[in-house]
Amino acid sequence: MNEDIPQLPSYDESSLDAAFATLAEEVRGETSSHVDAEAFRLRWLGRKQGRLKLISDAWLKSSPAEARKPLGMRFNQLKQQIEVALADAIAAPATSALKAGIDITLPGSVRAPGIEHPLLKTMHEVVAVFHHLGYSTALGPQVESDFYNFEALNFPPNHPARDTQDTLVLAGQQAKASRDRLLMRTHTSPVQIRTMIAEAPPIRIVVPGKVHRNDAADATHSPVFHQVEGLCVDTNITFSDLKGTLDHAMKALFGSGVKTRFFPSFFPFTEPSADVQISCIFCAGKGCRKCKHSGWIELLGCGMVDPAVFASVDEQRVAQGKEAAYDPAKVTGFAFGMGVERIAMILHGVSEIGQFYSGDMRFLEQFA
Ligand code: DAH
Repeated sequence: MNEDIPQLPSYDESSLDAAFATLAEEVRGETSSHVDAEAFRLRWLGRKQGRLKLISDAWLKSSPAEARKPLGMRFNQLKQQIEVALADAIAAPATSALKAGIDITLPGSVRAPGIEHPLLKTMHEVVAVFHHLGYSTALGPQVESDFYNFEALNFPPNHPARDTQDTLVLAGQQAKASRDRLLMRTHTSPVQIRTMIAEAPPIRIVVPGKVHRNDAADATHSPVFHQVEGLCVDTNITFSDLKGTLDHAMKALFGSGVKTRFFPSFFPFTEPSADVQISCIFCAGKGCRKCKHSGWIELLGCGMVDPAVFASVDEQRVAQGKEAAYDPAKVTGFAFGMGVERIAMILHGVSEIGQFYSGDMRFLEQFA
């Protein structure tokens, strides 16, 4: 006889009660801790080696006739108890896990949802202002040729204006003609050229993107930063359109109370060129430390597209078998470019540009 099967000392009612009570207790014990329902089923109800079958073989078969009925009754009760326990174990595995010491009623570990990085957020905000004016987004490569980054934008080789954009060049370019040499783009303006070569007017684009300069990092400079460029070319585009567009954009970004003013400036690819200033948002133009007591903050460059830029665009278009579409007697346009970091710093009162790149959660979480 299987050692696992308890001995039945006698067939009188009290012996039977005691024996079945022990078995019932055994079943309860097994299901009060984490129970694998299938293992439990096999152990008790298995057709050949199940405990119920073995016990029934051991006790029923050799029992005297008058003990069959009381034995059978108790077997049926035990079997019912086992089936109920099995159904519970199948239906509520989580309850079993709870019993095993994993308290599923405790709150889970909280996963904070991510947020847009403040720089990307600012970039998207700027772009959205122009999308509402009917502009679409254009993108260009960060590794750019000298031609698109400088020459076509009217920075001839060795021109002193190149000094304003100290450049990171790729190694091993010496064998190439100077216009084909690759560099990290210093501004998003080359996308103006790429777009105009590809498409005839009318053009209304905004160009968000990363740019690179050989600048030492300090509180307000970083060798890698971001710009949003804009270009509008059509018939009858005037400097008034440029002023109205940028005045609207600045009010949309900084609040309807800001004023703008345009100062003469120089960029090789625009004529005339201007720097745009907004009234200081910290002191409402009264003068404070942030605006160096001038009441104004300089924010972006802009101007009317220089005819020399149109000429070099058309030269490329014709070389590629397209029609010349940028005759300065017929089309005019304006362009502008702004630094995303600078706008984000002003909007959020950040005084160290490096904070944007630090990955310091204490800084970033403030924008959540
Ligand atoms: N590309 C210039 C820079 O990075 C910014 C700029 C100025 C862009 C005037 C323009 C513009 O499109 O018209 O300094």
